[in-house]
Amino acid sequence: MKVLVTGGMGYIGSHTCIALHQAGYTPVIYDNLSNASVKVIDQLAQITGHHFDYIVADIGDKDALSAAINDHHIQAVFHFAALKAVGESTEQPIRYYQNNVAKTLTMIEVMSELNVKKLIFSSSATVYGDPQYLPIDEQHPISSTNPYGWSKVMVEQALNDLAASDGEWLTIALRYFNPVGADKSGLIGESPKGIPNNLMPFIAQTAVGRREHVSVFGDDYDTPDGTGVRDYIHISDLADGHVAAFSHHFNHEQAGTGSYAYNLGTGEGYSVLEMIKAFSVASGVDIPYQLAPRRSGDIACNYADASLAKQGFGWQAKRDINAMTADTWRWQTNYPNGLDE
Ligand code: NAD
Ligand code: UFG
Repeated sequence: MKVLVTGGMGYIGSHTCIALHQAGYTPVIYDNLSNASVKVIDQLAQITGHHFDYIVADIGDKDALSAAINDHHIQAVFHFAALKAVGESTEQPIRYYQNNVAKTLTMIEVMSELNVKKLIFSSSATVYGDPQYLPIDEQHPISSTNPYGWSKVMVEQALNDLAASDGEWLTIALRYFNPVGADKSGLIGESPKGIPNNLMPFIAQTAVGRREHVSVFGDDYDTPDGTGVRDYIHISDLADGHVAAFSHHFNHEQAGTGSYAYNLGTGEGYSVLEMIKAFSVASGVDIPYQLAPRRSGDIACNYADASLAKQGFGWQAKRDINAMTADTWRWQTNYPNGLDE
């Protein structure tokens, strides 16, 4: 079965292509390269022994998308393509709504016209806004605090309405907590452009000597050590979650129709200081850090109730914090400046 993977050269999409391939699916990658390197294709070939077909095009390009779906006899779309920088989204909201919402709707129109009505969507724990209770389950009220987050909320709403209006559709929104780590081969991983916004790539770049120290944003939160707590999930577990969710619904649940949302997290939280410590152990580098003021918009604590995914399709995260840090370190030392530099 051939599936289109939009954003498939990016961080999460590329790892999901490995999991799809291992599960017997044939991913066809569709990416405009706005935040990825085409070298990912060669890396994936080294890892899997398979050279994936790919198309360099934009999801808003109806002709290119129609051709990709038709030429490859695509049966489902795994939709990762999006812009994802929260801070940037507050400065350029319309660009975010255009890319993440408007173009997704265009893509869905094309899929409808071609009768491809199975969609797996990259959502985020950001749709829960500031948590009202922990752990966060899927019933938690939906809201957001920034345009990026609202773009995810809007697409989720559109998917619910779509599935309600047309009983042939299957839509699955997967709400990721904090994806970290890299494929254990060390051949692909996360390489943010410029200064990393997220903790794990910042720690990794500090360990490898690209940054002087990690700034710990706030040590006066209501958490055990005062620093922010998050539910970090290994990227390969996240990738497996996509395959498990899709396979389950496509093959069993209500003949593969309906609209669903699942958390993908571990259910366990780690603080900023615990992450720095774990990374020091994995890398053997004493990672310098400095306490800094809170980052605006941050929440104290966030972790998932991941039981719905376990009950629903038997998925749960298997890789621990040691694998997350060791695999990140392998990738970071192999490619300290990413694939392109
Ligand atoms: P990424 O930037 O590495 O990958 C996104 C890919 O989409 C890139 O390769 C980019 O070139 C491509 N792309 C963007 N706009 C496109 C367009 N209009 N047409 C075609 N290709 C386009 O990001 P990622 O971390 O792999 O994230 C994948 C998805 O997961 C995104 O939807 C993101 O919002 C979501 N998500 C990510 C995180 C995270 O922490 N990384 C957390 C929650 C949700
Ligand atoms: N942090 C630091 N120093 C840094 C970077 C981060 O101390 O240099 C801290 C943050 O304050 C927070 C924790 O590390 O306590 C994690 O921060 P990240 O930026 O790695 O992750 P967030 O939880 O803030 O953001 C993630 C995703 C967003 C998503 C958000 C809400 O990256 O896309 O979760 O779900 F919107």
